[in-house]
Amino acid sequence: MDNSIIAHRGWSSRGPENTLYAIELALKEKKIDKIEIDVQMTKDGIIVLHHDFELGRTSNGKGLISEYSYEELLKLDFGGWFSADFTGERILTLKEVLDLIGNTKDLIIEIKKGGSMYPHIATELCHVLKPYSLKNIYVKSFNHEVVKEVADINHKIKTGILIYGKPVLLKEQMKYAKASFVSIAYPYITKELLDHLYQDKIEVMVWTVDNKKHMEDIKKLDKGIGIITNYPELGFK
Ligand code: G3P
Ligand code: CA
Repeated sequence: MDNSIIAHRGWSSRGPENTLYAIELALKEKKIDKIEIDVQMTKDGIIVLHHDFELGRTSNGKGLISEYSYEELLKLDFGGWFSADFTGERILTLKEVLDLIGNTKDLIIEIKKGGSMYPHIATELCHVLKPYSLKNIYVKSFNHEVVKEVADINHKIKTGILIYGKPVLLKEQMKYAKASFVSIAYPYITKELLDHLYQDKIEVMVWTVDNKKHMEDIKKLDKGIGIITNYPELGFK
């Protein structure tokens, strides 16, 4: 077994995050095993790719993405902020990404928020996923309530929890969320923690490993872990 290399927000050091360019680039590279994306919902209920709640950093729009319809978002540019060469990159829907990826690579979908901001996101996500093979799809969130909602709607979807900071009572948190995998920040990955999780065959992903030394340390520590990185090339053999 070898570590899997996971392109964070697509190959986001080489193109604007969560755009077609960054995702296609990651898709073409055989040494990248999985692609991670962030999803939120438009005012009219379409699941789209975007990391921040606000539009300002990664587009020429402003304000909350949740206050725009999909048609309105289509008029915005999501590439020019990265470099003028990418001007014209547009908002992507989750459905477009699922159609593009098919089952050629694993896709990790991070739901950025549920609760009062996106009360229907779990239901809509499960609806969008329905026609697709679930074999290569992972769904995760820092919001464990929304993870649980997804698992309750469709227990066949692989669901996982994201953890900020030092993991505490991890298996209990997973049980609550009905999760089968876990994503932990780089500084908190230890051999003891991995042994503890592997006892129950829990899949582990580490984020975000953008430093060559950290990449090597993780690879030395464990061969089965998924490494989420903006610089997948650091992990290539
Ligand atoms: O998947 C891990 C990582 O993406 C979580 O943090 O803020 O980059 O979505 P963030
Ligand atoms: Ca993410």
